[in-house]
Amino acid sequence: MDETNRAMILVLLLCVSAAKLAEGQTLDVCASCHANATCENKLDGSGKVCNCNYGYVGNGRTFCQDKDECQIGAHRICGPHTTCHNTYGSYYCTCLSGYRPTNNINVFIPNDGTHCQDIDECSTTGVCGDRALCRNLEGSFDCSCQLGYQIHNGPEPFNPHTNKAFCKVVDCGQPASVQDMVLLSVSRTTYGSVAIFGCAEGFVWRSGDNSSVCGADGLWKGPTADCEEILCGDPPILHHTGQVWNGSSTPGSTVTYFCKTGFYHNEGSNISVCTNNGYWTKPNISCKEVDCGVPRPVPDSVMLWDNIATMGSQVVYQCKSGYYNVGGGNVSVCTASGEWDGASLRCQEINCLRPVFKPNAKMLWDGTSRLGSVVYYQCEEGYYTRSQRNYSKCGENGLWEEIGLRCEAKCGPVPLLANSEVVWHNRSVVIHRCVDGYHSWRGSNVSVCGSSGLWEEAQMKCIEIKPPINHLFVINEKCLHWKAGKYEEDTEVYKVTYVGSRDYQRSFHDKRNTFLTSKADQLELCLNLLPFTNYSILITAVSAGFTATITTNTSLPAPPAPGVYYKEFETPVPTLRLRRSRNALDPISLYQVFVLPLEGIMMFDCSSPASLHPSSKMKSSTEYITAQIDVRHVGTEMNFTVGDGLHYGGFFNAPLEKGRDYYIILRAVSQWKTVSKSTCVLWAKVGGISYVLKVSSAASAVGLVPMIFLGGYIFIWFFKKT
Ligand SMILES: *[C@@H]1O[C@H](CO)[C@@H](O)[C@H](O)[C@H]1NC(C)=O
Ligand SMILES: *[C@@H]1O[C@H](CO)[C@@H](O)[C@H](O)[C@H]1NC(C)=O
Ligand SMILES: *[C@@H]1O[C@H](CO)[C@@H](O)[C@H](O)[C@H]1NC(C)=O
Ligand SMILES: *[C@@H]1O[C@H](CO)[C@@H](O)[C@H](O)[C@H]1NC(C)=O
Ligand SMILES: *[C@@H]1O[C@H](CO)[C@@H](O)[C@H](O)[C@H]1NC(C)=O
Ligand SMILES: *[C@@H]1O[C@H](CO)[C@@H](O)[C@H](O)[C@H]1NC(C)=O
Repeated sequence: MDETNRAMILVLLLCVSAAKLAEGQTLDVCASCHANATCENKLDGSGKVCNCNYGYVGNGRTFCQDKDECQIGAHRICGPHTTCHNTYGSYYCTCLSGYRPTNNINVFIPNDGTHCQDIDECSTTGVCGDRALCRNLEGSFDCSCQLGYQIHNGPEPFNPHTNKAFCKVVDCGQPASVQDMVLLSVSRTTYGSVAIFGCAEGFVWRSGDNSSVCGADGLWKGPTADCEEILCGDPPILHHTGQVWNGSSTPGSTVTYFCKTGFYHNEGSNISVCTNNGYWTKPNISCKEVDCGVPRPVPDSVMLWDNIATMGSQVVYQCKSGYYNVGGGNVSVCTASGEWDGASLRCQEINCLRPVFKPNAKMLWDGTSRLGSVVYYQCEEGYYTRSQRNYSKCGENGLWEEIGLRCEAKCGPVPLLANSEVVWHNRSVVIHRCVDGYHSWRGSNVSVCGSSGLWEEAQMKCIEIKPPINHLFVINEKCLHWKAGKYEEDTEVYKVTYVGSRDYQRSFHDKRNTFLTSKADQLELCLNLLPFTNYSILITAVSAGFTATITTNTSLPAPPAPGVYYKEFETPVPTLRLRRSRNALDPISLYQVFVLPLEGIMMFDCSSPASLHPSSKMKSSTEYITAQIDVRHVGTEMNFTVGDGLHYGGFFNAPLEKGRDYYIILRAVSQWKTVSKSTCVLWAKVGGISYVLKVSSAASAVGLVPMIFLGGYIFIWFFKKT
């Protein structure tokens, strides 16, 4: 707190204490009035009173505050378009901007009748500038551009005091080009300026305005003129003419005329032009029809012409009779250039020259070779004519006619081939065929009459048809023989299959095969056939695919000699030992023991006592069979006692007579059904010895049996002992 404030507070404190002090005594009222109060007498006169001054409110002593008259609103206290200004204890009014007080003093108190009036700013010239129009408003004004001017730098309307907007004259700029028109003149381009247009070249004015005006909106208005294109249309058509025209019918376009084919340009201009007034100029071309006149003659020809000589007309030339065209066209045509063209023929007299030579033929000819000349042909001796015609004429083509004449040799009677017959023949060809049983082999079957007059005979040979295997037979039960029915050097492969079977031995089966390759015509093949077997033999000629069969059977062989040793006995009941020999034919073998009473010179036929049956009578009364033994009942060996009185195989083994000498013969027999073969051996001599047995040297050398076999016979010689 500074010094002055401290002093004031001190003063205040003094005053308050002074007042308190006075109250207690006689109080001076006026001394206590507020600085802004006035001490007045009470209305009732009973003293003084402090009243706050005019414009203040309060108790008049301690508190007098300024009263704000403007608080209720300028409009109500000062009137319309005013501003209220409060002051200590009072107030005053002023007009709002744009208004002025009627008392013409700036500050006023309304109660003197003063009020605020609108100021007309537009009354002052040049407020908005010389391009704008002023408009007065209540309390203000605004500006807008005059016609022909446009606002710049701001919106319209504008206030020149508050914004920078200003008005500028309208400028439409250079007028735009207009279709079908041209700009003729333009002075200025600002508002109201006029541009003059005219119709473009090739166009004509029909209606409307040619001018264009720059409007207030900155745009050109117009022109409204209607310019129509000048067209000449289609060019005129003239007789016998064609046109060369690009289709344009604007002024200056041209069309060129030409004469159609068959006509030619005689005179006049052939060009027409489209003028500015829309018409084609008249072409004065003149086309005349072509005339070729009378055709030119061709030597040695006739002309066929209908007397028309316009373009395209034809004339035909023909060589006259006896002449022919040696080349070139024979038609002439009237051309566009007025000339006959095309015929290039030349007619020459026909000359056939020498007639054609024919082999083996004579010519009868008068030497001329003109059209119609004739030559005759005659075949020479030994030849005959083969042709429909024997003469030829000189033809229009300059050639002798082709008559196909041939002179062919006469070969005489048809040739004959061995074993063949003629199927068909004419004078130059014979067809042969082999007779039945023969077939053709290698070579043609056609004989041809040669040009020399001799038959060229067919190469064919007729060969007897024979099977590839024939004359098949078997020799010596062993060797096959056959003839090959094949050709020359051909090699044939033969497959021989043989199957053997035996009735008496069911299990037996002998199947074998063998091959033979040979070129021979006569063939022999020896097979290893087993005895007493039926064979079925199959021969196949492999390449020919032919098979022949034959059956053969091998004979029953004589059984092998039984294994015995010759013995001599002095007893009437000798026991003899027999060794069995192995024999393939066992099932059909048997042994027989013969007893021969000794009587001078004897001959024993091994096969003679054919009957093997016990009941059959012996041819000889002396010899007999004493036993018959089936070989199957013999083991490896057997002892047999002669005269033991037993029966063997149905034969009675009769006892031998004492004092008599006997020979015992053993016979081995192979037999099947009616077939039999036997082998005999002298087994023993029994009894008293009365004769000396002379043995052949061969037998004695072996020291075996004193007997000789001759074709199945046993001869025994006995000599008296010396
Ligand atoms: C009295 O009024 C005047 C002006 O009107 C002012 O300046 C002054 O301060 C007032 N006195 C007091 C004590 O309020
Ligand atoms: C417009 O211009 C054409 C020439 O382009 C003229 O022939 C015509 O008379 C003009 N029209 C007017 C209305 O002036
Ligand atoms: C005989 O016949 C043959 C074949 O048909 C044939 O080509 C030939 O011209 C004939 N010959 C004759 C003289 O008729
Ligand atoms: C062979 O065939 C004949 C007839 O079929 C027959 O009688 C004969 O016994 C046969 N021979 C052999 C050894 O089989
Ligand atoms: C061979 O067999 C045939 C029957 O196949 C027969 O007729 C013929 O007599 C037999 N010959 C011999 C020797 O067996
Ligand atoms: C046959 O007789 C001989 C002696 O004489 C004897 O050795 C042999 O065993 C006999 N054979 C048979 C099969 O009886």
